[in-house]
Amino acid sequence: MTLPGAPMPSPLLELREIHKTFRSGGLFAPARTVVAAEGVSFRLERGTALALVGGSGSGKSTLARLILRLERADRGQVLLDGEDVLVREPRGASLRYRSRVQMVFQDPFASLNPVHRIAHPIERALLRHGRAGRSDLRPRVLELLRTVGLEPAEEFVDRHPHALSGGQRQRVAIARALAVGPDLLIADEPTSMLDISIRMSILNLLAELKRERGLAILLITHDLASARYLADRILVLNQGRVVEEGTSETIIESPRHPYTRALLASIAQFDGATMGS
Ligand SMILES: Nc1ncnc2c1ncn2[C@@H]1O[C@H](COP(=O)(O)OP(=O)(O)OP(=O)(O)O)[C@@H](O)[C@H]1O
Ligand SMILES: [Mg+2]
Repeated sequence: MTLPGAPMPSPLLELREIHKTFRSGGLFAPARTVVAAEGVSFRLERGTALALVGGSGSGKSTLARLILRLERADRGQVLLDGEDVLVREPRGASLRYRSRVQMVFQDPFASLNPVHRIAHPIERALLRHGRAGRSDLRPRVLELLRTVGLEPAEEFVDRHPHALSGGQRQRVAIARALAVGPDLLIADEPTSMLDISIRMSILNLLAELKRERGLAILLITHDLASARYLADRILVLNQGRVVEEGTSETIIESPRHPYTRALLASIAQFDGATMGS
């Protein structure tokens, strides 16, 4: 219980008033300014999942890139455990940051090098972050493969990516992310390129990691159904602005904003169309 007057513990991740504008065009094209984030604020608590939902170009991936420090904000703060991560840091801090915040991308076919066995990227992550030595490397890799449901792990470990399905590759990508022992996993459309029949199994795996390992998950998706399934809270974005935020149930059952209602209506229509076909 928190004592009255005691400071609130900081959330794992907090964005405060993030602004980000891109300028495109140049010598031959007219200059254009795109506002990708306009005063975006949110909090993500440990062991919970937050879904960023919005149409194409609403700024979801930009926020992910800002959190990963691949992009710089024009204004605002990104705090991890209450510490501003956008300030300049000494050498080595970057590797430490990477060990806490990991990413899984949309395309499981592009994310693994076809030349290497699937164990390779996992081994590299373990060694680079000092989480295994040469002697315990293989057992650690096998353990991670089991964690993501690639069993029997001994059968998968020496395979090349071409011998795996899209869903299995996405599991390898998740194992590689888990190898460094992150607190936060950012998953940008992790299931949108997968067969509809295996989407749910990947979401189930993420839900299990959240529940059993206390992993915090930032799920980026167009799909409100996936958001509802995995996320405790949903934040709806439109053109770089937060339209509304709430528990997944509230956002889906009683959306307040017309944009959210329109998103929901488009899903209902799509579901109707696919069911009718
Ligand atoms: N490096 C960049 N240079 C110029 N404009 C950019 C850049 N990155 C993103 N943008 C623009 O910023 C806006 C937000 O893009 P972002 O990729 O964050 O959207 P998104 O919500 O992830 O979309 P999608 O669902 O299609 O992946 C878009 O208008 C995009 O064109
Ligand atoms: Mg995107």
